[in-house]
Amino acid sequence: MPLIEWSPVFNVNVKKSDDQHKKLVELINQLHDSMKAGQANASLGNILQSLITYTATHFKEEEQMLQLNGYPDLVKHKAIHAEFVKKVIEIQKKFQESASGAVLSMGILSFLKEWLMGHIKVEDKKYGVFLNAKGIK
Ligand SMILES: [Fe+2]
Ligand SMILES: [Fe+2]
Repeated sequence: MPLIEWSPVFNVNVKKSDDQHKKLVELINQLHDSMKAGQANASLGNILQSLITYTATHFKEEEQMLQLNGYPDLVKHKAIHAEFVKKVIEIQKKFQESASGAVLSMGILSFLKEWLMGHIKVEDKKYGVFLNAKGIK
């Protein structure tokens, strides 16, 4: 069973965002599956890197879209993104420093899950409503 099951409650009703959020969910699920399967650290490290890279791309594109459409809460939204990026990079650093890679735990996976899904359901949904009101879907 995947760690995160996509559900309509996660939709922000902007197609590009929903597609990118689904891709993020896929990457977290992949990381979880690989960890459970006891895959080698090199492979976990690669997936973690993909997750970080894709998260950065997603945040950047989301912020650009919000900027373009005059989203009033953009500064706060950007700060929340930056805080998460910082945390994930810390996780990656610890992972790289630990010879056993044991630092990639269920606790970390849960943190990624809770943070991302919480952010989508609360903060991203707010801009979804804003953009939908402007006719953007
Ligand atoms: Fe966001
Ligand atoms: Fe997002």
